[in-house]
Amino acid sequence: MTSDLVLEGISKQFAGHRAVDNLDLTVPAGSFFALLGPSGCGKTTTLRMIAGLEEPTTGTIRLGDDEITGLRPYKRPVNTVFQNYALFPHLDIFENVAFGLKRRKVKDYKPKVEEMLDLVELNDYGKRRPGQLSGGQQQRVALARALINRPQVLLLDEPLGALDLKLRRQMQLELKRIQTEVGITFVHVTHDQEEAMTMADTIAVMNGGLIEQLGSPAELYDLPATTFVANFLGQSNLIRGAIIGQADENLIVDVQGRKVLVPKARCRVTEGEVWLGIRPEKVFLAPAGTEEGDGVNQLLGAVVTDVSYVGVSTQYLAKLPWGQELTVFEQNTGARDTFRAGDAVDLHWRPAHSFLLDAAQDALAGVEDVE
Ligand SMILES: Nc1ncnc2c1ncn2[C@@H]1O[C@H](COP(=O)(O)OP(=O)(O)O)[C@@H](O)[C@H]1O
Ligand SMILES: [Mg+2]
Repeated sequence: MTSDLVLEGISKQFAGHRAVDNLDLTVPAGSFFALLGPSGCGKTTTLRMIAGLEEPTTGTIRLGDDEITGLRPYKRPVNTVFQNYALFPHLDIFENVAFGLKRRKVKDYKPKVEEMLDLVELNDYGKRRPGQLSGGQQQRVALARALINRPQVLLLDEPLGALDLKLRRQMQLELKRIQTEVGITFVHVTHDQEEAMTMADTIAVMNGGLIEQLGSPAELYDLPATTFVANFLGQSNLIRGAIIGQADENLIVDVQGRKVLVPKARCRVTEGEVWLGIRPEKVFLAPAGTEEGDGVNQLLGAVVTDVSYVGVSTQYLAKLPWGQELTVFEQNTGARDTFRAGDAVDLHWRPAHSFLLDAAQDALAGVEDVE
Protein backbone atom coordinates (compact mmCIF):
# COMPACT_ATOMS: atom_id res chain seq x y z
CA MET A 1 0.00 0.00 0.00
CA THR A 2 2.72 2.46 0.93
CA SER A 3 6.02 2.53 -0.94
CA ASP A 4 9.50 3.82 -0.40
CA LEU A 5 10.10 7.41 -1.39
CA VAL A 6 13.15 7.52 -3.66
CA LEU A 7 15.10 10.59 -4.75
CA GLU A 8 17.69 10.00 -7.46
CA GLY A 9 20.25 12.57 -8.56
CA ILE A 10 18.06 15.44 -7.34
CA SER A 11 19.55 18.93 -7.75
CA LYS A 12 18.10 22.40 -7.54
CA GLN A 13 19.90 25.30 -9.12
CA PHE A 14 18.70 28.80 -8.28
CA ALA A 15 20.25 31.76 -10.13
CA GLY A 16 23.95 31.34 -9.43
CA HIS A 17 23.38 29.06 -6.45
CA ARG A 18 23.10 25.29 -6.08
CA ALA A 19 20.71 24.75 -3.15
CA VAL A 20 20.56 20.96 -3.50
CA ASP A 21 23.42 19.03 -5.06
CA ASN A 22 22.84 15.62 -6.66
CA LEU A 23 20.93 14.06 -3.79
CA ASP A 24 20.33 10.30 -3.63
CA LEU A 25 17.94 9.31 -0.90
CA THR A 26 15.61 6.44 -0.05
CA VAL A 27 13.02 6.99 2.64
CA PRO A 28 11.67 3.58 3.72
CA ALA A 29 7.87 3.25 3.64
CA GLY A 30 6.28 3.81 7.01
CA SER A 31 9.40 5.26 8.63
CA PHE A 32 9.94 8.44 10.57
CA PHE A 33 12.69 10.12 8.59
CA ALA A 34 14.45 13.35 9.55
CA LEU A 35 16.31 15.75 7.27
CA LEU A 36 18.65 17.50 9.68
CA GLY A 37 20.97 20.40 8.93
CA PRO A 38 21.78 24.05 9.59
CA SER A 39 19.77 26.91 8.16
CA GLY A 40 20.28 27.30 4.41
CA CYS A 41 21.54 23.76 3.72
CA GLY A 42 18.68 22.92 1.34
CA LYS A 43 16.13 21.12 3.54
CA THR A 44 13.07 23.15 2.57
CA THR A 45 14.03 23.10 -1.10
CA THR A 46 14.26 19.29 -0.95
CA LEU A 47 10.86 19.06 0.74
CA ARG A 48 9.28 21.43 -1.78
CA MET A 49 10.56 19.27 -4.65
CA ILE A 50 8.98 16.19 -3.04
CA ALA A 51 5.72 18.12 -2.64
CA GLY A 52 5.85 19.35 -6.25
CA LEU A 53 6.07 23.02 -5.26
CA GLU A 54 9.54 23.31 -6.78
CA GLU A 55 10.79 21.69 -9.97
CA PRO A 56 14.11 19.81 -9.69
CA THR A 57 16.87 20.98 -12.05
CA THR A 58 17.99 17.36 -12.38
CA GLY A 59 16.89 13.99 -11.08
CA THR A 60 13.79 11.93 -10.46
CA ILE A 61 11.42 11.35 -7.55
CA ARG A 62 9.55 8.07 -7.19
CA LEU A 63 7.08 6.48 -4.84
CA GLY A 64 7.82 2.80 -5.25
CA ASP A 65 7.58 2.19 -9.00
CA ASP A 66 5.62 5.36 -9.74
CA GLU A 67 7.57 8.35 -10.91
CA ILE A 68 6.04 11.56 -9.53
CA THR A 69 8.72 14.06 -10.62
CA GLY A 70 6.45 15.92 -13.05
CA LEU A 71 3.09 15.53 -11.27
CA ARG A 72 1.10 18.57 -10.11
CA PRO A 73 1.28 18.96 -6.32
CA TYR A 74 -2.37 18.02 -5.73
CA LYS A 75 -1.94 14.85 -7.79
CA ARG A 76 0.75 13.54 -5.44
CA PRO A 77 -0.19 11.37 -2.46
CA VAL A 78 1.78 13.82 -0.33
CA ASN A 79 0.72 16.46 2.23
CA THR A 80 2.76 19.13 3.99
CA VAL A 81 2.60 20.62 7.49
CA PHE A 82 4.35 23.97 7.86
CA GLN A 83 5.67 25.84 10.87
CA ASN A 84 2.98 28.52 10.62
CA TYR A 85 0.04 26.02 10.68
CA ALA A 86 -1.84 27.90 7.89
CA LEU A 87 -5.26 27.09 9.36
CA PHE A 88 -8.42 28.82 8.13
CA PRO A 89 -9.09 31.38 10.86
CA HIS A 90 -12.80 31.82 10.07
CA LEU A 91 -13.58 28.08 10.17
CA ASP A 92 -13.91 26.11 13.39
CA ILE A 93 -11.56 23.23 14.17
CA PHE A 94 -13.97 20.58 12.90
CA GLU A 95 -14.40 22.38 9.58
CA ASN A 96 -10.66 22.95 9.27
CA VAL A 97 -10.03 19.22 9.59
CA ALA A 98 -13.00 18.35 7.35
CA PHE A 99 -11.81 20.70 4.60
CA GLY A 100 -9.90 18.21 2.41
CA LEU A 101 -12.65 15.60 2.50
CA LYS A 102 -15.44 18.08 1.78
CA ARG A 103 -13.54 19.51 -1.14
CA ARG A 104 -13.19 16.02 -2.58
CA LYS A 105 -16.92 15.57 -1.93
CA VAL A 106 -16.34 12.60 0.35
CA LYS A 107 -19.68 11.54 1.82
CA ASP A 108 -20.03 10.70 5.47
CA TYR A 109 -16.89 12.62 6.41
CA LYS A 110 -18.01 13.30 9.99
CA PRO A 111 -16.82 10.04 11.59
CA LYS A 112 -13.46 10.48 9.83
CA VAL A 113 -13.07 13.97 11.23
CA GLU A 114 -13.98 12.69 14.71
CA GLU A 115 -11.40 9.95 14.32
CA MET A 116 -8.71 12.48 13.40
CA LEU A 117 -9.61 14.81 16.28
CA ASP A 118 -9.40 11.77 18.51
CA LEU A 119 -5.94 10.91 17.15
CA VAL A 120 -4.59 14.35 18.00
CA GLU A 121 -6.56 14.47 21.27
CA LEU A 122 -8.72 17.47 20.41
CA ASN A 123 -12.20 15.90 20.50
CA ASP A 124 -13.60 18.61 22.74
CA TYR A 125 -12.31 21.46 20.60
CA GLY A 126 -14.28 20.97 17.38
CA LYS A 127 -16.39 24.09 17.82
CA ARG A 128 -13.53 26.45 18.60
CA ARG A 129 -11.77 28.74 16.16
CA PRO A 130 -7.98 28.41 15.60
CA GLY A 131 -7.43 31.73 17.40
CA GLN A 132 -8.85 30.17 20.58
CA LEU A 133 -6.23 27.41 20.69
CA SER A 134 -2.62 27.38 21.87
CA GLY A 135 0.24 27.03 19.38
CA GLY A 136 0.69 23.35 20.16
CA GLN A 137 -3.03 22.69 19.70
CA GLN A 138 -3.08 24.58 16.41
CA GLN A 139 -0.18 22.49 15.18
CA ARG A 140 -2.12 19.33 16.06
CA VAL A 141 -5.09 20.63 14.04
CA ALA A 142 -2.76 21.20 11.09
CA LEU A 143 -1.54 17.64 11.48
CA ALA A 144 -5.09 16.23 11.60
CA ARG A 145 -6.03 18.29 8.56
CA ALA A 146 -3.13 16.80 6.60
CA LEU A 147 -3.50 13.22 7.83
CA ILE A 148 -7.23 13.01 7.08
CA ASN A 149 -6.30 12.90 3.39
CA ARG A 150 -4.42 9.65 4.07
CA PRO A 151 -1.30 10.72 2.17
CA GLN A 152 1.41 8.15 1.56
CA VAL A 153 3.98 10.66 2.73
CA LEU A 154 3.59 13.49 5.22
CA LEU A 155 6.15 16.28 4.93
CA LEU A 156 6.81 18.40 8.01
CA ASP A 157 8.89 21.58 7.64
CA GLU A 158 10.15 22.66 11.08
CA PRO A 159 6.61 22.14 12.40
CA LEU A 160 7.58 22.77 16.03
CA GLY A 161 9.78 25.80 15.40
CA ALA A 162 7.25 28.30 16.74
CA LEU A 163 6.70 26.49 20.05
CA ASP A 164 8.57 27.08 23.28
CA LEU A 165 11.02 24.46 24.47
CA LYS A 166 8.78 22.57 26.89
CA LEU A 167 5.88 22.36 24.46
CA ARG A 168 8.27 21.35 21.70
CA ARG A 169 9.54 18.39 23.76
CA GLN A 170 5.94 17.34 24.45
CA MET A 171 4.97 17.63 20.78
CA GLN A 172 8.02 15.60 19.72
CA LEU A 173 6.77 12.61 21.69
CA GLU A 174 3.22 13.28 20.49
CA LEU A 175 4.30 13.35 16.82
CA LYS A 176 6.18 10.10 17.28
CA ARG A 177 3.12 8.42 18.83
CA ILE A 178 0.88 9.67 15.99
CA GLN A 179 3.31 8.47 13.31
CA THR A 180 3.46 5.01 14.91
CA GLU A 181 -0.32 4.91 15.11
CA VAL A 182 -1.03 5.90 11.48
CA GLY A 183 2.01 4.19 9.92
CA ILE A 184 2.36 6.89 7.25
CA THR A 185 5.89 7.86 6.11
CA PHE A 186 6.91 11.10 7.86
CA VAL A 187 9.70 13.26 6.42
CA HIS A 188 10.51 15.76 9.12
CA VAL A 189 12.78 18.74 8.46
CA THR A 190 14.60 20.32 11.39
CA HIS A 191 17.81 22.13 12.32
CA ASP A 192 17.53 20.81 15.89
CA GLN A 193 19.70 17.73 16.34
CA GLU A 194 18.06 16.74 19.60
CA GLU A 195 14.65 16.87 17.95
CA ALA A 196 15.81 14.65 15.09
CA MET A 197 17.44 12.20 17.51
CA THR A 198 14.32 12.02 19.70
CA MET A 199 11.90 11.26 16.90
CA ALA A 200 13.46 9.75 13.82
CA ASP A 201 14.17 6.14 12.86
CA THR A 202 16.60 7.44 10.26
CA ILE A 203 18.36 10.79 9.98
CA ALA A 204 19.94 12.28 6.87
CA VAL A 205 22.42 14.97 7.94
CA MET A 206 22.54 17.70 5.27
CA ASN A 207 25.19 20.35 4.81
CA GLY A 208 25.61 22.71 1.87
CA GLY A 209 23.09 20.90 -0.36
CA LEU A 210 24.72 17.50 0.25
CA ILE A 211 23.98 14.57 2.53
CA GLU A 212 26.95 14.10 4.84
CA GLN A 213 25.70 10.90 6.43
CA LEU A 214 22.57 8.82 6.77
CA GLY A 215 21.72 6.38 9.53
CA SER A 216 19.90 5.74 12.77
CA PRO A 217 20.46 8.30 15.55
CA ALA A 218 22.66 5.79 17.40
CA GLU A 219 24.75 4.99 14.31
CA LEU A 220 25.37 8.66 13.54
CA TYR A 221 26.25 9.46 17.12
CA ASP A 222 28.45 6.42 17.65
CA LEU A 223 30.39 6.60 14.42
CA PRO A 224 30.21 9.96 12.64
CA ALA A 225 31.61 9.90 9.11
CA THR A 226 32.71 13.54 8.96
CA THR A 227 33.85 16.29 11.32
CA PHE A 228 30.59 18.11 10.50
CA VAL A 229 28.47 15.22 11.75
CA ALA A 230 30.78 14.70 14.75
CA ASN A 231 30.21 18.31 15.81
CA PHE A 232 26.64 18.92 14.66
CA LEU A 233 25.19 15.86 16.41
CA GLY A 234 26.20 16.29 20.02
CA GLN A 235 29.80 17.27 20.73
CA SER A 236 33.12 15.63 19.89
CA ASN A 237 36.73 16.02 20.95
CA LEU A 238 38.86 15.98 17.81
CA ILE A 239 42.58 15.50 18.47
CA ARG A 240 45.28 15.76 15.82
CA GLY A 241 47.32 12.58 15.25
CA ALA A 242 49.04 10.44 12.62
CA ILE A 243 48.64 6.74 11.76
CA ILE A 244 51.96 4.99 12.34
CA GLY A 245 51.07 1.30 12.05
CA GLN A 246 48.66 -1.44 12.95
CA ALA A 247 48.25 -4.14 15.58
CA ASP A 248 45.65 -6.88 15.05
CA GLU A 249 42.26 -5.23 14.66
CA ASN A 250 43.54 -1.76 15.49
CA LEU A 251 45.37 1.10 13.85
CA ILE A 252 48.09 2.71 15.93
CA VAL A 253 47.89 6.48 16.11
CA ASP A 254 50.60 8.78 17.37
CA VAL A 255 49.28 11.73 19.39
CA GLN A 256 52.07 14.06 20.45
CA GLY A 257 54.42 11.11 21.03
CA ARG A 258 51.89 8.89 22.77
CA LYS A 259 50.47 5.78 21.05
CA VAL A 260 46.74 5.12 21.07
CA LEU A 261 44.65 2.41 19.37
CA VAL A 262 41.52 2.71 17.26
CA PRO A 263 39.65 -0.34 15.84
CA LYS A 264 40.07 -0.45 12.05
CA ALA A 265 36.31 -0.71 11.61
CA ARG A 266 36.02 2.73 13.18
CA CYS A 267 38.57 4.41 10.90
CA ARG A 268 37.61 6.42 7.80
CA VAL A 269 41.27 6.65 6.79
CA THR A 270 44.10 4.11 6.85
CA GLU A 271 47.18 6.32 6.65
CA GLY A 272 48.50 9.79 7.22
CA GLU A 273 47.23 12.63 9.36
CA VAL A 274 43.95 12.15 11.19
CA TRP A 275 41.46 13.59 13.59
CA LEU A 276 41.04 11.24 16.51
CA GLY A 277 37.46 11.62 17.74
CA ILE A 278 36.09 10.85 21.21
CA ARG A 279 32.71 11.84 22.63
CA PRO A 280 32.93 13.79 25.92
CA GLU A 281 31.06 11.18 28.00
CA LYS A 282 33.43 8.44 26.80
CA VAL A 283 36.50 10.12 28.31
CA PHE A 284 37.32 9.49 31.97
CA LEU A 285 39.46 11.55 34.28
CA ALA A 286 41.80 10.06 36.88
CA PRO A 287 44.14 11.81 39.33
CA ALA A 288 47.54 12.11 37.60
CA GLY A 289 49.65 8.96 37.78
CA THR A 290 47.01 6.72 39.37
CA GLU A 291 45.81 4.95 36.31
CA GLU A 292 46.48 1.49 34.85
CA GLY A 293 47.10 1.53 31.12
CA ASP A 294 45.75 -1.95 30.40
CA GLY A 295 43.63 -2.10 27.28
CA VAL A 296 42.75 1.57 27.41
CA ASN A 297 44.04 4.63 25.62
CA GLN A 298 45.60 7.31 27.75
CA LEU A 299 46.74 10.88 27.45
CA LEU A 300 48.76 12.02 30.44
CA GLY A 301 49.63 15.27 32.14
CA ALA A 302 46.43 17.27 31.71
CA VAL A 303 45.13 19.98 34.01
CA VAL A 304 41.47 20.69 34.80
CA THR A 305 40.76 24.23 33.63
CA ASP A 306 37.00 24.45 34.10
CA VAL A 307 34.31 22.65 36.08
CA SER A 308 30.60 23.10 35.38
CA TYR A 309 28.25 21.29 37.72
CA VAL A 310 24.94 20.69 35.93
CA GLY A 311 23.18 18.34 38.32
CA VAL A 312 23.06 14.97 36.55
CA SER A 313 26.59 15.45 35.29
CA THR A 314 29.69 17.55 35.69
CA GLN A 315 31.30 19.01 32.57
CA TYR A 316 35.03 19.45 32.71
CA LEU A 317 37.55 21.12 30.46
CA ALA A 318 40.96 19.43 30.67
CA LYS A 319 43.98 21.08 29.07
CA LEU A 320 46.53 18.79 27.48
CA PRO A 321 50.28 19.56 27.59
CA TRP A 322 50.17 20.96 24.02
CA GLY A 323 47.40 23.40 24.94
CA GLN A 324 44.30 21.74 23.50
CA GLU A 325 41.31 21.57 25.84
CA LEU A 326 39.13 18.46 25.83
CA THR A 327 35.54 18.34 27.05
CA VAL A 328 34.72 15.58 29.53
CA PHE A 329 31.24 14.76 30.86
CA GLU A 330 31.03 12.65 33.97
CA GLN A 331 27.71 11.42 35.36
CA ASN A 332 27.25 12.39 39.00
CA THR A 333 26.70 8.86 40.25
CA GLY A 334 28.66 9.52 43.41
CA ALA A 335 30.86 6.54 42.58
CA ARG A 336 33.78 8.45 41.10
CA ASP A 337 36.12 11.22 42.19
CA THR A 338 35.16 14.77 41.37
CA PHE A 339 37.83 17.26 40.36
CA ARG A 340 38.53 20.93 40.81
CA ALA A 341 40.08 23.50 38.53
CA GLY A 342 43.86 23.17 38.74
CA ASP A 343 43.85 19.40 39.49
CA ALA A 344 46.44 17.36 37.57
CA VAL A 345 44.67 14.54 35.72
CA ASP A 346 45.18 11.78 33.16
CA LEU A 347 42.56 11.03 30.53
CA HIS A 348 41.55 7.58 29.44
CA TRP A 349 39.03 5.91 27.15
CA ARG A 350 38.42 2.55 25.48
CA PRO A 351 39.69 2.17 21.89
CA ALA A 352 36.18 1.08 20.80
CA HIS A 353 34.87 4.49 21.87
CA SER A 354 37.01 6.50 19.49
CA PHE A 355 36.90 7.07 15.73
CA LEU A 356 39.28 8.36 13.05
CA LEU A 357 38.52 10.98 10.42
CA ASP A 358 40.59 12.47 7.62
CA ALA A 359 42.63 15.43 8.86
CA ALA A 360 41.91 17.34 5.64
CA GLN A 361 38.48 18.19 7.07
CA ASP A 362 37.83 21.30 9.13
CA ALA A 363 37.82 20.30 12.82
CA LEU A 364 35.34 23.09 13.55
CA ALA A 365 32.81 22.19 10.83
CA GLY A 366 29.32 22.18 12.32
CA VAL A 367 30.44 23.62 15.67
CA GLU A 368 28.98 27.10 15.43
CA ASP A 369 25.70 25.65 14.24
CA VAL A 370 24.96 24.00 17.56
CA GLU A 371 22.50 26.09 19.55
N1 LIG B 1 13.43 30.67 -4.50
C1 LIG B 1 14.74 30.79 -4.25
N2 LIG B 1 15.54 31.54 -5.03
C2 LIG B 1 16.86 31.65 -4.80
N3 LIG B 1 17.50 31.03 -3.80
C3 LIG B 1 16.76 30.26 -2.96
C4 LIG B 1 15.35 30.09 -3.14
N4 LIG B 1 14.89 29.28 -2.16
C5 LIG B 1 15.96 28.95 -1.42
N5 LIG B 1 17.09 29.55 -1.89
C6 LIG B 1 18.44 29.37 -1.35
O1 LIG B 1 18.77 28.00 -1.35
C7 LIG B 1 19.47 27.64 -0.16
C8 LIG B 1 18.72 26.58 0.57
O2 LIG B 1 17.53 27.11 1.09
P1 LIG B 1 16.49 26.23 1.93
O3 LIG B 1 16.18 25.00 1.18
O4 LIG B 1 15.36 27.11 2.29
O5 LIG B 1 17.36 25.87 3.22
P2 LIG B 1 16.88 25.33 4.64
O6 LIG B 1 15.45 24.97 4.58
O7 LIG B 1 17.79 24.17 4.92
O8 LIG B 1 17.15 26.45 5.61
C9 LIG B 1 19.65 28.92 0.62
O9 LIG B 1 20.91 29.45 0.34
C10 LIG B 1 18.53 29.80 0.10
O10 LIG B 1 18.87 31.17 0.22
MG1 LIG C 1 13.83 25.68 5.75
